Amino acid sequence: MTTVDLPLLPLGKGKDPDSERGVECPGDLPAASDPDLVARAQAAKEALGNRVFVLGHHYQRDEVIQFADVTGDSFKLARDAAARPDAEFIVFCGVHFMAESADILTGDQQKVILPDLAAGCSMADMARIAQVEDAWDALVDAGVADSVVPVTYMNSSADIKAFCGKHGGAVCTSSNADVALEWAYDQKPDAKVLFLPDQHLGRNTAVFKMGFTLEDCVVFDPFKPGGGLTPEELDRARIILWKGHCSVHGRFSEQVVDELREKIPDINILVHPECTHEVVLKADLVGSTEFIIKTIEAAEPGSKWAIGTELNLVKRLASQHPDKEISFLDRTVCYCSTMNRIDLPHFVWAMEELVAGNVVNHIKVDPDTEHWAKVALDRMLALPGKSEKD
Ligand code: 13P
Ligand code: SF4
Repeated sequence: MTTVDLPLLPLGKGKDPDSERGVECPGDLPAASDPDLVARAQAAKEALGNRVFVLGHHYQRDEVIQFADVTGDSFKLARDAAARPDAEFIVFCGVHFMAESADILTGDQQKVILPDLAAGCSMADMARIAQVEDAWDALVDAGVADSVVPVTYMNSSADIKAFCGKHGGAVCTSSNADVALEWAYDQKPDAKVLFLPDQHLGRNTAVFKMGFTLEDCVVFDPFKPGGGLTPEELDRARIILWKGHCSVHGRFSEQVVDELREKIPDINILVHPECTHEVVLKADLVGSTEFIIKTIEAAEPGSKWAIGTELNLVKRLASQHPDKEISFLDRTVCYCSTMNRIDLPHFVWAMEELVAGNVVNHIKVDPDTEHWAKVALDRMLALPGKSEKD
């Protein structure tokens, strides 16, 4: 593996970060130094057998992903969760909004467990339901709400998904945002989309996949009256982008792309659509985590890649494909800190509690929210299979 002078630093193990964030693990967490953790996880998984189904997002640590029955991006995992109605427990190694979606898509008899409740998502936290309701009121006041179809990225809380379900909208993921937008524009004559909460995925999809211009996009800032937009600006817009972003993917820069291209002229730049528009503009390929994996699998031996997505995935791809030169598209480490909260001690703790008959960290969405969020999720799952058109 070539690192192109972009050092991949090992992640240190220190004291439990949850206690620093005020989310205490409600039980006795095994010590990270316990040499038996792998054996304990294996034993708990064997003891639970088919009663448990473990899902692992591609951004999870290797120490956890080794116990996943299936791995995937958020779209694939939502589908996989729904396809195992016989499993009593779904242990979700990912972040909170993914576990909520799994709860919504699984049966009432099934229980979804998130091994660490502090595994949130800073992007999802950038759109709160009260802010979105206020924004809708602003769209009503501006006289445009009747033509707006809300579409929310999977990376949002269940109540935002429910809001979209109630208002005729849908959910999308990074692998089908283009198809979801096409669907949304078919819902009403002269439709506009309110895209939540990731402005970058919304803008990149609108411009690179739908043929809109940057002038067709406006950014709604929830901290400004009326989103900081005039009624005329809202009226002219084809897509209203919520002012949210991913703090991990937002780090990739044009400068590093330029540096790499100068140093390695035949390098391929492959990025996730949560990166900024400027970075995507300079990249060779853009797509979801699943697309990134498939692209590397299909790449020629000896080909050179710099990948702009979460570091656990980039490191895994580099070790799985030693015949290709894979680098990380940043000078410094860039793990998703909340994805990384699910570590082996939390996984072992949650699994052993299940063996002992205690359901811990149960993620349960209330019935009304669940109903409407499912409407929005089902609209996404019913979309035609095509996506990632490049
Ligand atoms: P995917 O939709 O590609 O799984 O991405 C989820 C995510 O959190 C990206 O930051
Ligand atoms: Fe959220 Fe970004 Fe982490 Fe994905 S990588 S879970 S969008 S903070």
